[in-house]
Amino acid sequence: MKTYKLIFPLFVLLLIVMTAHAGVEQTKHNFTSATYSPNAFFWGTQQVCAFCHTAHNAGSQSPLWNHETNDLQPYTMYTSPTIDMTQSATPHNGSLVCLSCHDGTIAVNSLNNVPGPEAAGSYGSPGGAALDATGKLTSSSGAFVGTDLSDDHPVGITYDATKDPDFKSKTGNPQAYPDKLLDEGLYVECTSCHNPHDNTYSNFLVESNAGSALCARCHSK
Ligand code: HEC
Ligand code: HEC
Ligand code: HEC
Ligand code: HEC
Repeated sequence: MKTYKLIFPLFVLLLIVMTAHAGVEQTKHNFTSATYSPNAFFWGTQQVCAFCHTAHNAGSQSPLWNHETNDLQPYTMYTSPTIDMTQSATPHNGSLVCLSCHDGTIAVNSLNNVPGPEAAGSYGSPGGAALDATGKLTSSSGAFVGTDLSDDHPVGITYDATKDPDFKSKTGNPQAYPDKLLDEGLYVECTSCHNPHDNTYSNFLVESNAGSALCARCHSK
């Protein structure tokens, strides 16, 4: 009884913490639900967060990343004659986590730690038109980005306004723009423009891009 009295408030606290992040449940990133993610869901699954995070036995990516990633995947990076900043040979963490599903090479339900006994494997079985029979995102899906990133906004690129007057200067304050959009305070990655938990502004954008406001956080064109 004593343990119960101790554990119950902790459990309630945990629930409150979890509901604080519950926004993701009402989005296409809720793969347990054919209602919220009609094109891509998995039969027999209940844990929304498990597709991306785990409390234990996470992979090498942060934060506590549960989705299988292929660190050796070669990506075709963006090139342009007018690029001034340093384009890395591969994307960094803030893009690799997204590409682990959106490049279409790894099944959406391929996890480092499937809920239940601690083991890697497939969580549930695929349903919805955006997935193939193995649970990978199909190339015909609007959400498919692929491994060729040359037609996408550059990622894995260092933000360095000293190299181009058409960019806003960094402030050194991680809470201020443009710094707060940068991955590790340095790079432009998928997470610069997208928040995977919140679809308030559609397309999981970090903020509204009405009037290209998001673009203008970095570009001063
Ligand atoms: C589709 C994948 C996905 C799902 C589902 C998901 N997350 Fe995340 N989460 C991410 C990614 C990617 C990041 C890293 C974001 C960044 O670096 O900007 C992250 C970051 C976090 C962080 C640390 C940074 C922050 O935003 O506070 C916490 C805590 C977190 N997620 C909790 C949760 C919980 C709890 C759930 C379930 C209710 C959940 N996430 C569902 C992808 C996901
Ligand atoms: C665990 C796999 C997984 C991860 C990780 C993941 N996504 Fe997704 N994402 C999906 C699937 C599946 C869909 C739904 C596709 C559909 O409905 O056609 C989706 C939908 C989206 C959409 C909406 C597309 C639309 O058709 O409305 C955007 C934007 C998006 N994801 C961006 C991201 C970004 C950026 C990240 C990383 C911060 C990320 N996702 C991480 C699997 C994932
Ligand atoms: C510089 C900002 C920016 C970056 C970086 C970025 N996106 Fe987007 N993304 C957008 C905007 C804005 C949209 C809204 C649709 C549009 O205008 O193309 C979008 C739309 C999407 C969509 C919806 C389908 C589509 O093509 O319209 C997906 C999926 C997506 N992004 C995934 C990603 C992934 C994965 C990465 C990292 C490899 C990434 N994005 C990097 C700004 C960005
Ligand atoms: C987080 C900062 C950031 C945001 C937000 C951002 N960009 Fe960029 N963008 C960059 C950086 C850094 C480069 C690389 C510039 C360079 O090396 O000269 C770039 C490059 C570009 C280029 C290619 C320039 C070239 O020389 O080839 C275009 C076009 C572009 N961005 C458009 C957009 C649009 C449209 C948006 C809004 C949807 C956007 N950007 C949002 C940082 C950002």
